[in-house]
Amino acid sequence: MIVRRCSIEDIDEIYKIEEESFTDPMKKETMEKDILRESYYCYGLFEDKLMAFVSFEKVFEEGQIISVATKKEHRGKGFAKKLFCEITDAAKKDGVELFTLEVRSDNIAATGLYKSLGFTEVGVRKNYYKNPLCDAILMDLHL
Ligand SMILES: CC(C)(COP(=O)(O)OP(=O)(O)OC[C@H]1O[C@@H](n2cnc3c(N)ncnc32)[C@H](O)[C@@H]1OP(=O)(O)O)[C@@H](O)C(=O)NCCC(=O)NCCS
Repeated sequence: MIVRRCSIEDIDEIYKIEEESFTDPMKKETMEKDILRESYYCYGLFEDKLMAFVSFEKVFEEGQIISVATKKEHRGKGFAKKLFCEITDAAKKDGVELFTLEVRSDNIAATGLYKSLGFTEVGVRKNYYKNPLCDAILMDLHL
């Protein structure tokens, strides 16, 4: 099992996971452009193939989490948690002092993951997400 920063060559595998994980997935072309930007970080956990990825945008000392997903058939095996734990040191070296994110309040798996990693709730945006209508929980993790 290895964790490394993803590159443009990994886009097909990242996109496969993105597509099966979100009802409104990001466009592949957008992901291709993003991964080439210096301030955009995407790390993957590989076990032969890509099992999970996390992406964030670095804005000064803040790492704004964009996406986290694990391959559907491999969820609940600790991959996302392991990936996050592994990238914390790398992110610190890259100058990230704080991770921030927004998550649907009805996303039990994601809120469970973030809480288990030590993220704390810092705010709520009422009815932020549509279809279905749902609050956004804002969470932070100081590294
Ligand atoms: C959220 C997601 C990334 C979690 O990935 P995962 O690899 O299955 O998570 P892990 O196995 O590493 O679990 C880590 C922790 O998350 C929590 N968790 C994971 N799945 C859970 C579930 N179905 N219900 C409740 N808590 C859950 C647990 O606290 C777990 O820690 P524990 O095993 O010590 O109890 C995965 O469910 C996913 O890809 N979902 C679809 C995409 C998504 O919603 N991403 C988040 C967008 S903000």
